Amino acid sequence: MSGRYVLGIDTSTTSTKAILVDAAGRVAGEASATYDADSPRPLWSEQDPRLWWRATGEAIRGVLARTGAHPDEVAAVGIDGQMHGMTLFDAAGEVLRPAILWNDQRTAAECDEIRTRVGRERLIRIAGNEAIAGLTAPKLLWVRNHEPEIWARVARVLLPKDAVRWWLTGDAASDVSDASGMLLLDHRKRDWSPELLDALEIPRAWLPRLAEGPEVTGVVSAAGAAATGLRAGTPVVGGGGDQAANAVGLGVVDPGPLALSLGTSGVVFAATDAPVHAADGWLHAFCHAVPERWHLMGVMLSAAGSLRWLHDAIAPEASFETLVAEAAAVPPGAEGLLFAPYLSGERHPHTDPRIRGAFVGLTLRHGRGHLVRAVLEGVAFGLRDMLDQLRATGAPVTSARMSGGGTRSDTWRGILADVLDVPLMGVATAEGAAFGAAVLAATGAGWYPDVAAASAAMVHPVDAAEPGPDAPRYAELHAIFRDLYPSLREVSYRLGEE
Ligand code: XUL
Repeated sequence: MSGRYVLGIDTSTTSTKAILVDAAGRVAGEASATYDADSPRPLWSEQDPRLWWRATGEAIRGVLARTGAHPDEVAAVGIDGQMHGMTLFDAAGEVLRPAILWNDQRTAAECDEIRTRVGRERLIRIAGNEAIAGLTAPKLLWVRNHEPEIWARVARVLLPKDAVRWWLTGDAASDVSDASGMLLLDHRKRDWSPELLDALEIPRAWLPRLAEGPEVTGVVSAAGAAATGLRAGTPVVGGGGDQAANAVGLGVVDPGPLALSLGTSGVVFAATDAPVHAADGWLHAFCHAVPERWHLMGVMLSAAGSLRWLHDAIAPEASFETLVAEAAAVPPGAEGLLFAPYLSGERHPHTDPRIRGAFVGLTLRHGRGHLVRAVLEGVAFGLRDMLDQLRATGAPVTSARMSGGGTRSDTWRGILADVLDVPLMGVATAEGAAFGAAVLAATGAGWYPDVAAASAAMVHPVDAAEPGPDAPRYAELHAIFRDLYPSLREVSYRLGEE
């Protein structure tokens, strides 16, 4: 076995994290560097791609320094990142405009345009997905429709982690799990769809070469080595979209337990061994970062992001622990208060960029702890909605493995187990997607014959929470929660026109 460590790098919406992991899955150390996203208009979300590269250099140098690891000890690098972000480069390799991110909701008209150009049934058949604001193709059409001067200069389109790969190795490559989220891929064939590219008039030459998650796409270049402290020549694998990488990091490689992620967004993810898709195309049907595996996935846009919003809005001076402790003292149901977590519009199960969030049921009795409890519960109800949607496709979900900052709280874990009504497991490492990227790198380095073997050796599940006596009460409350979306729709649309 060459090298002592593999390096996992996660380019998220808020930070870049680098971790060094050994062959038994022990994390030797991690370092991260943070950045901000911009919202220049309501429901827009953008980020300067150069921030990712600067943070990548800082995080890799940080983890090498912190662990004392020599660059020669790094056998391979795995990368993953926030999905769907449209990053445009000109022919000289310069970034053309801020990346338009996964939670940007500006492209309702372009989604209609895609349905008209391709045909809805055909689109779902090829891409596995409906046209949803947030995926990459509608953003490309938006730039063509609104920024013709930028459009005229586009030479290359990359996803966030692949922009990092471009700077690290000089290769324009992607992996099929992340590429699935561009709405340009034939998910059955695990390749770009000539039919979609023709219908949308997007040149094939702009798109990266495709690889499987554990496949080596190139090596760290001299410039990449100078910026990061890695050894030039270190192999870099395809990696994955953050959700597929996260699932690998949880050991969700084959059909079985659900992968549940509670970060800024909230995700339910089920691996499949064939390219199935939901009949209405609303749930994502993407390739997995594991060869010959696919997955179904539901994404709510504001999960732990809802708690962060509440914290920043009403209690920026309080710690999250304090707020959650206040919520723990409030009974289930927050004494008649519900929260609709549609702060950025919603993707699943109500695909609707124009829906808005709400507290419903406020009375004089409610204090800060009630607001926090309602947010924790509202997010759990939104996840339950998506679990029900997944089950409707025939996925038999009986347990879940979870990750993400939100799952560190006992209180939130307990609420999740009750609302989802399945046993929850965690894993010994809390590094989520970066850890999954490292597992893919360990496979690409030849340490293990395939991702399943790497995952069996490196991922160590632990029990986390079981459904308790409050589960039936939460089932009743969920029935009321389900009526929130239709009740809020018209009011949200009218407010949106203000
Ligand atoms: C997945 C998605 C989000 C981002 C978050 O489809 O849009 O989970 O990947 O980083």
